[in-house]
Amino acid sequence: MKELFARASELAGIVKEQKEVLVVTHIDADGITSGSIAKKALEDAGIETRVRFVKQLEKAEIEKIKDENVFVWFTDLGSGQLSSLDGIDFIITDHHVPERSCTKQLNPHDFSIDGGVEMSGSVATLMVANRLSSNPRLAELAIVGAVGDLQDSRFGKLVGFNRRLVEFLNGEIIEVQRDLRFFGKQTRPIAKMLEYNTDPIIPGITGDENGSLKFLNSLGIDPWKKWIEITKEEKRKVVSAIVRHCMDFGLGYDEIKRIAGECYILLHQPEGCEKRDAMEFSTLLNATARYGEAEIGVGVCFGDEKAFSRARTLLQNHRKNIANGIRLVEEIGIKELKNVQYFHAGKEIKDTIIGIIAGMSLVKNPKKPIIAFAESDNGVKVSARANYRLVERGLNLSKAIKLASEAVGGSGGGHNVAAGALIPFGSEEKFIEIFNELIGKQLEN
Ligand code: C5P
Ligand code: ZN
Repeated sequence: MKELFARASELAGIVKEQKEVLVVTHIDADGITSGSIAKKALEDAGIETRVRFVKQLEKAEIEKIKDENVFVWFTDLGSGQLSSLDGIDFIITDHHVPERSCTKQLNPHDFSIDGGVEMSGSVATLMVANRLSSNPRLAELAIVGAVGDLQDSRFGKLVGFNRRLVEFLNGEIIEVQRDLRFFGKQTRPIAKMLEYNTDPIIPGITGDENGSLKFLNSLGIDPWKKWIEITKEEKRKVVSAIVRHCMDFGLGYDEIKRIAGECYILLHQPEGCEKRDAMEFSTLLNATARYGEAEIGVGVCFGDEKAFSRARTLLQNHRKNIANGIRLVEEIGIKELKNVQYFHAGKEIKDTIIGIIAGMSLVKNPKKPIIAFAESDNGVKVSARANYRLVERGLNLSKAIKLASEAVGGSGGGHNVAAGALIPFGSEEKFIEIFNELIGKQLEN
């Protein structure tokens, strides 16, 4: 651990020498919070800063950066492309599986910390940022990033290095509450919160407005109140009824366990606002960058009211797209191979949200990893998701997707349970064949 802190100080030292820094980051909630943390810290240190968002760090993007001849701070990406960065003056704060260890990166994997669950890109970035700025609110964004990358979903709470940060902040910046882990507790009527929850999928309630209303009415709960508006007693009643309902329908222990768990309340944000709850905050951010409006997400992180209002509009649109995506998958169906399952959304689902739809579709059958294809402008976007249980049996989607995508002339990487790639048009069949085989090999040991 001492080495990790030493690395953070070294990298902060390198950054302090710069007059101008280009922050290059990823277009998801972890990427936006990472980029915002870096931007604020650099500005506090009196360094001129620009932030650029990329879907992935591909060759063309790297070439463009090289031409600019500027110092770069890569956040929430970069470690998977280390060998292509020669000629750029840079530091990296990232948690993706790195190509190799490197003294210019702060990556948990280099310090025997699992970047998939124990440290987000935002928390890695915070470690360097804290040495440039004394702003205590940067940490709140780091928690939002970790939750945005679903680092709390495996155990129903943040663990590892993320947990150290949670404990440090508890009571001052955030409050840890044991509560229902559903989206929308601050902002949505309970009926809608239950209807739209997909983790776990609750028979007769998920996607079923009438079912959700009936369920709440039978408990004597006003379905149009928000979760934060009902009493502790009422909350307890609802949670135990949900658990009972899930048991009656034969849901597994693992799924039921995830219903309640830790929730992270941001104490400096107003009650009833998306930004009060780390889960809702991260979804709000996802709804900006994935639609090409990342700067709105940065504005939200910095408390800009106009940006916040725009983000809420984008969130409504994001919700619609997700609901349409789920419906489309139901229509086209998920095909099963020996070791994996997959679907091809063509142009019907945006390449930037196909990963979210893949994750939601996995819930129905978590036994095999799921692959989702979506056409983008410059190739076919691939998103892979799997249940954590398979990791214990040797699954590593990041490795498999890197090998399979490179074998068909594309590139990819990520984490053991969530990975992505970009492959050439028309190479899907070959890709899935290789991928299926690689997964079979990983799981046979
Ligand atoms: O895009 P998606 O959400 O499916 O990505 C899952 C993970 O895989 C992300 O952490 C992302 O950074 C990584 N990824 C990658 N290379 C790609 C696409 C995604 O490393 N070409
Ligand atoms: Zn991340």
